[in-house]
Amino acid sequence: MSPETGPTVFILNGVNLGALGRRRPEVYGTLTLDDIEKFLRDRFPDVDFEFRQTDYEGEMVGFIGEAAGSAGVVINPGAWTHYSYALHDALEWMDMPKVEVHLSNVHAREGWRRHSVVSPAVDAVVAGMGADGYRAAVAYILSRGGG
Ligand code: DQA
Repeated sequence: MSPETGPTVFILNGVNLGALGRRRPEVYGTLTLDDIEKFLRDRFPDVDFEFRQTDYEGEMVGFIGEAAGSAGVVINPGAWTHYSYALHDALEWMDMPKVEVHLSNVHAREGWRRHSVVSPAVDAVVAGMGADGYRAAVAYILSRGGG
């Protein structure tokens, strides 16, 4: 981090999250990913966000690798949460603060959503706070010294 720029925080959104706003708004809310990005940029003007979404697991592994040396990573892996050992392994050896975020309360839904294979590889998990969960995750990363 140079004195001229703020901390870089990666916000990584996985499979099907590109459809936010249209996809099951009663569960995931009406905000689109663009709305969430704007919300974070407004809320944290000094943070240099790298905001990404992909439906391809290998591309997500690449994004996680790109985050090496950043202030931290916020990741909503979507359904990959529940079965992607590849994302677990990509995250586990990275030493910056890492937060797993879910818009919905995955513990109050279908049984298969209660288990995350990603959680053991991150520092914190936020679920059920909607878009505000991303704000909480960024605040946590900054509190860990990223900003
Ligand atoms: C989600 C929860 C996952 O179970 C689901 O597959 C998603 C979104 C959430 O943000 O609540 O795609 O990660």
